[in-house]
Amino acid sequence: MLTGKQILIMGCGGIAAYKLPELVRLFSKQGATVRVALTEHATHFVSSMSLQAVSGHPVSQSLMDPGAELSMSHIELAKWADLVLVAPATANIMAKLAHGIADDLISTVLLATPAPIAIAPAMNQQMYQAGATQANLATLTNREIAIFGPASGEQACGDTGPGRMLQPEELVDATCKLFQSEQPLTGTTIVITAGPTQEAIDPVRYISNYSSGKTGYALAQAAVELGATVKLISGPVHLPTPKGCERINVLSALDMYKATMDTIPSCDIFIASAAVADYRVAEIADQKIKKKDEQMRLTLVRNPDIVAAVADHPNRPFTVGFAAETQDVAQYAKDKMQRKHLDMIAVNDVSKSDRGFNVDTNALQVFWPDGEYELPCTSKRKIAEQLIQLIITRYRHETD
Ligand code: PMT
Repeated sequence: MLTGKQILIMGCGGIAAYKLPELVRLFSKQGATVRVALTEHATHFVSSMSLQAVSGHPVSQSLMDPGAELSMSHIELAKWADLVLVAPATANIMAKLAHGIADDLISTVLLATPAPIAIAPAMNQQMYQAGATQANLATLTNREIAIFGPASGEQACGDTGPGRMLQPEELVDATCKLFQSEQPLTGTTIVITAGPTQEAIDPVRYISNYSSGKTGYALAQAAVELGATVKLISGPVHLPTPKGCERINVLSALDMYKATMDTIPSCDIFIASAAVADYRVAEIADQKIKKKDEQMRLTLVRNPDIVAAVADHPNRPFTVGFAAETQDVAQYAKDKMQRKHLDMIAVNDVSKSDRGFNVDTNALQVFWPDGEYELPCTSKRKIAEQLIQLIITRYRHETD
């Protein structure tokens, strides 16, 4: 859920700080990279050595430490984070944050960060219910700072009431929900075809192409990271399944056609990045074909056009095709978009050695019925992120 996310945990002085190593461990298990900063008081409840060991990074403690500033300054730390989580958050740090006081590392980073901030209050129930704390809480809520908890119950001081920090598992859940709610593709299902197809000739031979699947897999990863539910219909490739995707393995174009059509009822956006064989062998031999004559002929028949079938379906999703061309790239792509009734097409000029099949980079010209956009040559990972952003914009335009 948190793959690739950078989370800065800032711990203040409260007994609940002893739970921080477990919190760091759970975040890391979800794929996040975690850094920790502690107030001086927090170090009385948890050791920075143990937090350094579980997070794999030095723990920041002081605004005035030249060594720490040299390795990662407090401003860099503030910019590094995708989320700043103050846990435990004392009444004191809530007051500072509400009033813009920046007199130590934690309060300064809170002012300097462009990232969303979440706090997990932890304090005595009387302090929590005090008018000043409640007023500060209201200010922070108005500023869209996420408030995780607190829980109610027996407290370390012997009191009973609200003010217990949420358990580490609950904080991780709340963080996942926060990221999800911010993601533009939450609630959207995207089906992506990727890789080549294999068209059998006999039990040991087939016709295929050079597609590696890298483009489709990068698109799947980028879409998952923006909150989409992704079904990746993959031809035979040697790539690990991107985290968080459902992968459906297929071999032939007919298999890919069937798997794709099965997903249509639940599909909002369809992206056809696979290099599907246009033809298959008319009759697949049951036994290995023996060599006899100097020449042999194979009769090929047309495969169904998957992307065109999706675009013509009565419940069609927003449909994006690809085109791999070697000449008159833009014209062929636009013709294909029209002929196949696509909402969008991304064309790669595969006559160039740094684009298209099997390499790690690509450049795309993207067309839709009344517009176009050029994505210059970069890694397939980056270009996938850019293309998904373009697709989101066009999809919203069509559906809003
Ligand atoms: O996998 P990589 O090594 O990263 O390479 C990426 C890629 C070059 C394969 C990819 O960027 C790409 O261009 N994919 C489409 C290649 C292709 O087959 O283009 P086409 O012009 O033949 O097909 C046009 C569109 O129709 C494509 O969206 C294709 O998926 C779709 N199609 C084609 C035939 C068919 N029977 N069914 C289809 O859905």
